[in-house]
Amino acid sequence: MPDRLALYPGSFDPCTLGHLDILRRAIRLFDEVTILVAAHGKAGLWPADQRVAMIEASLAAEPDLARCRVATFNGLLVDEVREREAVAVVRGIRCAGDYEHEWGLHGVNRTLLAGFETVWLPARPELAAISSSLVRDVARHGGPLAELVPAPVAAALVAEPPR
Ligand code: COA
Repeated sequence: MPDRLALYPGSFDPCTLGHLDILRRAIRLFDEVTILVAAHGKAGLWPADQRVAMIEASLAAEPDLARCRVATFNGLLVDEVREREAVAVVRGIRCAGDYEHEWGLHGVNRTLLAGFETVWLPARPELAAISSSLVRDVARHGGPLAELVPAPVAAALVAEPPR
């Protein structure tokens, strides 16, 4: 049986402890997980290659995440699913608002690619309030980051605080 690959797409601007928790749980369900960092889209704090480097540094600290890879993408998610022969896309859901958004994404993706599947993982309650934009705001004001982002991301935010 071929390895079952899942894709975990997002902006990861920056990657948070919430994202990392979803990844830790996803790798137990699949043989491999590739984090797909959207190169374009929202106005980014960091260029995509820096966001990738921060995620790779975060993964390196955890042997259990050795079957996770990181890549960037520019186009449609369904094209990545097709080309990489992924069996599913993983997304985290923190609240009802996320679910409504995710329902729309899944519906359109399913229209674009027959057989497209999304696996939604509920965020752990203690991590459900975290978002990348709130992390950027805390960092901008020099607040503590240890409970919000992996250590390599915190170091990058301290070294280069958002303006
Ligand atoms: N923990 C912490 N934060 C989480 C989270 C979790 N488990 N799950 C979601 N978030 C947050 C993110 O931090 C981000 O916060 P922010 O808005 O404050 O920055 C927010 O939820 C959602 O961002 P993201 O995960 O980047 O998702 P998105 O809704 O912007 O979608 C793509 C990103 C890449 C999946 C989507 O735009 C896409 O597929 N683009 C490719 C083009 C395409 O195919 N378009 C058609 C799709 S129908």
